Amino acid sequence: MSEKTHLTSPHKNILVSEIDNSKALKVGLIQLNRPDVLNALNNDLMQEVVNTLEAFDKDAEIGCMVLTGNQKAFAAGADIKEMADATSIEMLVRDQFARWDRIRKIKKPVIAAVSGFALGGGCELAMTCDMIIAAEGAKFGQPEINLGVIPGAGGTQRLTKAIGKARAMEMILTGRMYTAKDMYNAGLVTKVVDTDIYLDEAIEIAKEIATKPTIAVQLAKESILKSFDSTIESGLEFERKNFYLLFSTEDKFEGMKAFLEKRKAEWKGK
Ligand code: CAA
Repeated sequence: MSEKTHLTSPHKNILVSEIDNSKALKVGLIQLNRPDVLNALNNDLMQEVVNTLEAFDKDAEIGCMVLTGNQKAFAAGADIKEMADATSIEMLVRDQFARWDRIRKIKKPVIAAVSGFALGGGCELAMTCDMIIAAEGAKFGQPEINLGVIPGAGGTQRLTKAIGKARAMEMILTGRMYTAKDMYNAGLVTKVVDTDIYLDEAIEIAKEIATKPTIAVQLAKESILKSFDSTIESGLEFERKNFYLLFSTEDKFEGMKAFLEKRKAEWKGK
């Protein structure tokens, strides 16, 4: 991995580090770390992931985040052991997937770097991210049907919006696994790269985003996500207001002035 990484506070189920990015904002890296169970997403792990994403989101030194697993598995789904004996009412009271809504509220971009299995909740977790960089051998699927249930952390909604009804139906109703290339062709995955470089590639993109004017990056993300739950008319209005809002940032004045003076802009993140 390029340049210096600083390991931050210890967690039980994830590894957290910050990656230097020359003079620009840093990249926050979260690595799921339950290799013995293919990074199955138990409650404690998800609590750590969500808390860390929120901490990075509030940290003025971080510009972008990367979420990854290991070469064998991004994550093979929600932890089946934790759910095997649960009843409906226990699941309702536990409401473990409600915490996933907090990921939707993260303002800075989050990039998923996926290698190996991204199944069930693992595929859903990758889909809560803003981009998916996949290794050639990555395998995506929503196999919940084979357990007698359905996706419960956004799969029926995010997958359908990303790849369309016809393909989402096949994926969710058969529970089959699909290659990174299949998912790239379907529009779920941003880019497929060699397995040796999938994490470096995700970090490179994150570093590049971290060099951009922060408020514009966040309002661009917010405007794109708005398209998922709005009509074209209200979405366009939302985008336009965010565009006008950026005219109050120092970075807008600097960006346009720098262009006219034929020099590189110096962003302040204000
Ligand atoms: N939960 C708990 N443990 C899991 C797990 C999961 N989702 N996926 C894998 N593991 C564990 C296995 O039990 C096994 O543990 P032991 O060594 O203690 O037996 C270990 O990880 C290695 O797994 P396998 O031996 O099965 O590895 P494999 O290479 O033969 O198969 C696999 C890999 C095809 C991914 C297979 O493990 C598998 O099918 N996993 C379950 C996938 C799945 O159904 N995911 C959906 C979960 S439900 C969900 O996610 C709901 C939701 O919408 C949020």
